[in-house]
Amino acid sequence: MTFFIKTFGCQMNVNDSEKIRHLLEARGMSTAAEEQADVIIVNSCAVRAKPQEKIFSYVGRFPASRKIIIAGCVAQSEREALFARKARVDYVVGTHQFYRIGDIIDELQAGGRPAVAAGFSRRWQELVPAARARSSAVTGYVSIMEGCDNFCSYCIVPFTRGREKHRPMAAIVREAETLAASGFKEIVLLGQNVNHWRDPGGRAGFPELLRRLARLPLPWIRFITSYPGYHEPELVQVMAGNRNIARHIHFPAQSGSTRVLKLMNRVYTRAQYLAIVRAFRRAMPEMKFSSDFIVGFPGESERDFQLTLSLLREVEYESVFSFIYSPRPHTKAAALAAGAPAQRVRERLYALQELQAAIQLKNNRRLLGKEIDVLACEEHPKKSGEMIGRSESYRVVNFASHAAVGEFRRVRITGAGPHSLRGEETPPSAP
Ligand code: SAH
Ligand code: SF4
Ligand code: F3S
Repeated sequence: MTFFIKTFGCQMNVNDSEKIRHLLEARGMSTAAEEQADVIIVNSCAVRAKPQEKIFSYVGRFPASRKIIIAGCVAQSEREALFARKARVDYVVGTHQFYRIGDIIDELQAGGRPAVAAGFSRRWQELVPAARARSSAVTGYVSIMEGCDNFCSYCIVPFTRGREKHRPMAAIVREAETLAASGFKEIVLLGQNVNHWRDPGGRAGFPELLRRLARLPLPWIRFITSYPGYHEPELVQVMAGNRNIARHIHFPAQSGSTRVLKLMNRVYTRAQYLAIVRAFRRAMPEMKFSSDFIVGFPGESERDFQLTLSLLREVEYESVFSFIYSPRPHTKAAALAAGAPAQRVRERLYALQELQAAIQLKNNRRLLGKEIDVLACEEHPKKSGEMIGRSESYRVVNFASHAAVGEFRRVRITGAGPHSLRGEETPPSAP
C-alpha cells in the first residue's frame, strides 16, 4: 500500500502532514508519487473560499481506482456536506481524527463505505514525527497549542481546529531537544495563538517556555502566530535576553482602523498594537515585524482603508500577507451585508500590495553593503552553485555558495529587490 499527501494551508497543516506520514510509515506503508499512490490524502485549508475550492479541482482528476481521503480543515468544517456536493472522496477525516487514518485506510481497502470521522479528541497532539518524516532537515515544526477561542468574526479556524488545547511543557522541550540533537538549525513553534500558551500542568506561560527552549543548542527559535490581544510585556524581555530567539515576529494586525478591528472582534486597538511594536523596538532596535491584513471587510470605509495603509507606513513591515475578505460558513460576519463593491476592494488590495512592495524595497536597500547571517535552506533548482537562504527576519537571500543545506554563512548584500536580496559569501575571518 502506498500513499501521497497533498498539503494545502498553513504550517500547522504541514506539521500534521508530517505526523500522518510518520504514522503510516510506522504501519509499513510507504509514500509514492502522486500519479502512482494507492491512496491520496488531501490535507485541506478552509480559511478562504478560493483555497477551499482548489481541493475539489485537485481531487477531481483522479480515476475511481484511487482512494481519496479529504482530511484537515475543510473536512472538519464541511463533514457530510462533502458527499452532498458529489466531491470525489472516499473518506472525510477531520483535524482531530488523523490518528485513525491508518485504520481508515485498512477499512477502505477492505471495501468499506465512504464515511466521516470528525469528532474532537486530544489524541493527535502528542504524536511527534520522526526526523525522516519531516518536510525539512533544517527547520523543525513543533506544535505547542492548537485551536482558538477568539472567534474573530470573519474566521473559520475556531470551527476547524476547535477550542484551545495546550501541550505540556515537558513534551515540547523533549521534542525540541530531539530536533536540536538531530542537527536541526531552527525550530518554529506552532499554534493559532502561541502567545496564549500555558503549561497545562504548571504555571509557566509562553515567555517562560521560550526562556527554557532558548537554552537548547538551536541557532534560531521562531514562533507563529502571536495574537496582539494576548501580548505580555515579559515576552519582550525574554526575547531581548536570548539572542537565539529570532528578532522577528509575525504579528497580524488585520486592519489599521480600530473601528474595523472592533467589527472583526479583534480585542485590541490600533494604538495598543502600535504601543506593543514600540516596546519591542525600544528593547531590540533590530526587531522586525510581519503581518496579515484583510481588505474589504463589511463596513470598511475608504477612511478605514487609509488607516491600514498608514499602519503599514508606521510599522514598516518586513513582509505582509494580504487577503480580500471572504465570507466563511459558521462565522458571524457571514451574515453581514457585503462591503465595498468588488472592483473597489480589488483596487484596495493592489494599493496595499504596491505600498508594501515599496516599503520592502526601501528596507532591503538599507542592507546594501552590509553583512548578515544567512541559513542555507535549499540549492537553487536551476542555477548550480547558487543557494537560496533565509535571513533572521525570514527574508529570501540568493547567494553563490557551495555551503551545504543547513549551514550558516556570513553574506554581504549586493542586490536588493522588493521580495529578495542578493549577496556574496564573505571569507571566514581569521581566528
Ligand atoms: N491564527 C492566526 C490566523 C490564521 S488564518 C491569527 O490569528 O493571526 C491566517 C490569515 O488568514 C488571517 O490572519 C487573516 O488575515 C486571513 N483570513 C482569515 N479568515 C479570512 C477570511 N474570512 N477572509 C479573508 N482572509 C481571512
Ligand atoms: Fe482566526 Fe482570530 Fe483565531 Fe486567528 S485569532 S485563528 S484570525 S479566530
Ligand atoms: Fe487553513 Fe486550517 Fe491552517 S483553515 S490556515 S489549514 S488552521
